[in-house]
Amino acid sequence: MNSSHSISMEKLCYSINGRKILEDFDFALERGVNRTILGVSGAGKTTILKLLLGLLQPDSGRVCIGDVCITGQPEDRFMQQRKQIAIVFQGGALFDSMTVGENVGYRLFEAGQLSEAEIERIVLEKLSFVGVDAALNLYPSELSGGMKKRVAIARALAADPDYIFFDEPTTGLDPIGVYNICNLMQRLQAEGKTTLMVTHDLATAFATSERFTFLHQARMIFEGTEMEMRNSRIPEVQEFLAPTVQSIFTQNMNTNGRQ
Ligand SMILES: Nc1ncnc2c1ncn2[C@@H]1O[C@H](COP(=O)(O)OP(=O)(O)OP(=O)(O)O)[C@@H](O)[C@H]1O
Ligand SMILES: [Mg+2]
Repeated sequence: MNSSHSISMEKLCYSINGRKILEDFDFALERGVNRTILGVSGAGKTTILKLLLGLLQPDSGRVCIGDVCITGQPEDRFMQQRKQIAIVFQGGALFDSMTVGENVGYRLFEAGQLSEAEIERIVLEKLSFVGVDAALNLYPSELSGGMKKRVAIARALAADPDYIFFDEPTTGLDPIGVYNICNLMQRLQAEGKTTLMVTHDLATAFATSERFTFLHQARMIFEGTEMEMRNSRIPEVQEFLAPTVQSIFTQNMNTNGRQ
């Protein structure tokens, strides 16, 4: 695959308060290959998404969006590249003081390139794609958790990105809500969008992704398909797929041992 059609991390290192979150981390999201990053809570999954977007700067290594290396560049140098990517944040991150419609259209208004009528058309189109067009004039506080997630997806879609990052999109949802999000992701993929999800929800990961990256103690310890993961002999991967009583002790040891 041509590098102009991918987002990548090369030999990336990132620490917080002296604790290594990522070490020599290589990663590529190729256009058209839907991927999930798996890892236990606190492993650094959200951090990876922020680094890929250039919201955080690595200690060393680099991030490239297409042919452009964004690491060390001022944001205005890579705005064009970043526009190809939208993110649905963990928890949705809707603006409470804005209506659903205003939340979805706000970036388009800010960009100032489209007429009000055109923005309204796009907002309604995206809201009906996710099935919450009836909520146009409601405030986030009036929505259920599942509806908030769908509004957050509509907002991500407003600028017509090529890549969509999903940070734990199904956490806290009931089975129908989870199904709804999976279905939305599959419809987006059918339209040609490339999705990158970070989660620990295996069922959603397997329903929506072709390839999987497993993050453990700052390193990528597995990359491959669902079948390859199920056949993997890497103990941490096996434990993640089928935890045992022993896993509780291992997790406690890792948590206590954190710097
Ligand atoms: N601003 C910060 N200050 C201090 N520590 C942080 C900060 N942001 C993240 N961390 C730590 O970095 C580690 C990785 O955080 P991150 O949010 O990327 O994990 P995660 O894999 O997304 O976890 P979860 O599955 O719970 O969302 C965590 O241990 C977290 O406590
Ligand atoms: Mg997270």
